[in-house]
Amino acid sequence: MKRLILPLALILLVFGQCGILAGKVNKHKPWIETSYHGVITENMDTVLLDPPLVALDKDAPVPYAGEICAFKIHGQEAPFEAVVLNRTSGEGVLRARSPIDCELQKEYTFIIQAYDCGAGDTGAGWKKSHKAVVHIQVDDVNEFAPVFREPVYQATLTEGKIYDSILQVEAWDQDCSPQYSQICNYDIVTPHTPFAIDRNGNIRNTERLSYDNQQHYKIMVTAFDCGQKRATESVAVHIEVKPVCKPGWQGWNKRADYEPGTGSKQLFPKMHLETCDGPLSSVRAMVELQTSHIGKGCDRETYSEKSLQRLCGAASGSTDLLPAPSASTNWTASLLTDSGRDSDLIFRFDGRQAANVPDRLVPHNLTDQFTIATWMKHGPSPGLRAEKETLLCNSDKTEMNRHHYSLYVHNCRLVFLLRRDFTQIDTFRPAEFHWKLEQICDKEWHYYVINVEFPAVTLFVDGVTYEPYLVTDDWPIHPSQIDVQLTVGACWQGGEVTTPRFTQYFRGSLSGLTIRPGKIETQKVISCLQACKEGLDINSLESLGKGIKFHFNPAQSVLVMEGDDLDSINTAMTKVSYINSRQFPTPGLRRLHISTTVQCFGEDTCISIPDIKAAVMVLPPSEPRITIAGVERLVRPAARLQLCHWRHAL
Ligand SMILES: *[C@@H]1O[C@H](CO)[C@@H](O)[C@H](O)[C@H]1NC(C)=O
Ligand SMILES: *[C@@H]1O[C@H](CO)[C@@H](O)[C@H](O)[C@H]1NC(C)=O
Ligand SMILES: *[C@@H]1O[C@H](CO)[C@@H](O)[C@H](O)[C@H]1NC(C)=O
Repeated sequence: MKRLILPLALILLVFGQCGILAGKVNKHKPWIETSYHGVITENMDTVLLDPPLVALDKDAPVPYAGEICAFKIHGQEAPFEAVVLNRTSGEGVLRARSPIDCELQKEYTFIIQAYDCGAGDTGAGWKKSHKAVVHIQVDDVNEFAPVFREPVYQATLTEGKIYDSILQVEAWDQDCSPQYSQICNYDIVTPHTPFAIDRNGNIRNTERLSYDNQQHYKIMVTAFDCGQKRATESVAVHIEVKPVCKPGWQGWNKRADYEPGTGSKQLFPKMHLETCDGPLSSVRAMVELQTSHIGKGCDRETYSEKSLQRLCGAASGSTDLLPAPSASTNWTASLLTDSGRDSDLIFRFDGRQAANVPDRLVPHNLTDQFTIATWMKHGPSPGLRAEKETLLCNSDKTEMNRHHYSLYVHNCRLVFLLRRDFTQIDTFRPAEFHWKLEQICDKEWHYYVINVEFPAVTLFVDGVTYEPYLVTDDWPIHPSQIDVQLTVGACWQGGEVTTPRFTQYFRGSLSGLTIRPGKIETQKVISCLQACKEGLDINSLESLGKGIKFHFNPAQSVLVMEGDDLDSINTAMTKVSYINSRQFPTPGLRRLHISTTVQCFGEDTCISIPDIKAAVMVLPPSEPRITIAGVERLVRPAARLQLCHWRHAL
């Protein structure tokens, strides 16, 4: 009991004293500045205040009365506390109650008040100062590294161009201050690239790029914030190099294989013309199939001239002037031949060979209608001052050098000479027929047919008719008893007194030289005789648009297509096909050449389309094969074999 009373009394005493003291001395309110400005570095707890936090009290500097007991902060959300450091001097400090995150809040504003100690620590009789505003700014720490906005960047550029900016990359940074959150620099990490990046993330190329050299670049790019903190992860930038748009055919293969027996095969099924948006009004494409190296300029059936004439329904009665040498046809034995196969025999004349055709093989009177046909590959041409080069000549055997009829080449002209016999009246008559044709000197094989329906003479070259550009008249030949000599490869000079000899030799190759008196060949037969079994074709003609005009040459080795509409031209070109109807075609390469011209709407400069060089490869036909299968060993009792023997003997 005594123990309980004593402390109570003590407390009463203490309080009584203080109350009296305060009542006497605490007359003034404490005083602080009206505003403070503070700075705190994030994640730290001390706030640097300006001015420093000091509260003053005018009361006498005795315990409690002149002392400062507390600073109070108004604003519950402010994560700060103010602590009194020295009650006598009134100094205090402001600090964070929990770590301050600048990224959450950059500034704080709140009210602070100072309290004096009044009558004691308990708060009784405390006087408070006026309210002061504290404004705190949180200082940033460069915690965050830049991060790129995209996981990967992509861009495309056209070769040969320099760009100011191909693309812009962008990084950002979570830090709260401009210094640490702004991106001050970008850098390309990948060494030796033809690219550069500026402070804003714009990537440009430092040199002209070439699609042929490299079509794709991958570069790694990093970023730095203004506090020099580097992105933890670089970003990949993919740059595709686009070829500069070049007008031309696209989507075609250099080589198309042709399998024998497959009919018509499309050569460029995916072809299309890139015009680079050029404003064209029409397109004209010429497709050429070059087969000059195959046989006689094209793949043909290799029947003998005789069989072919039968197959083509040619009238009988023609004479082969260049047959394969044999016992009965030995006048060609001294000539040079190129091919071993007698079905496709080629005679080569190098200016020294000629043959006398036996008398009476060809009737002397060819009548008014007759046909001379031959395959000819003329050349090399000996130049402009050249002599005549004779293919076929009928001249005086002796005494004179008169040419009755002859076929010769002179300065790339083909001339047919036909002197009539002096029969009834002595009149001037057509006697020399001249044709000037490129084919004569192009060193390629062509099929020539001369159809005589006197006085008209028509030449067919590869099935196409040509009228002579020049016809000269002459007198008929006076009748005489002199025999004539028919020759091939030169003309017979019978009038040479000492040694009759050949003259006007031919240079080139001949094959299938025939003469047929009494009748001329029809054009149908002529085209059949020279018919080529390979050529260009249009797969499904009817599907060609109406806007497409097309034209084949007779040999079907040249196809010209023309149209105003690009799509139709593209479709038409995909339908261009190669066909070889032989069962066993000559295998090997045939070149293809496509030249294209484009017209534009009144434009001076129109795009030009590069020519295409491609090829058809005719594959070797699969050889017929007989396979015999069976067991490797066959065991039979000897008795049975004997039985067979015995039976056979019977
Ligand atoms: C408190 O402040 C008073 C007055 O300025 C000074 O005399 C005293 O030494 C200070 N006390 C401490 C513990 O610093
Ligand atoms: C051709 O054969 C005949 C006999 O059949 C002979 O007289 C002639 O000399 C031969 N000519 C040649 C060029 O071999
Ligand atoms: C040659 O043919 C012409 C015209 O067919 C004919 O008038 C003349 O009798 C013939 N001459 C001889 C020798 O067969």
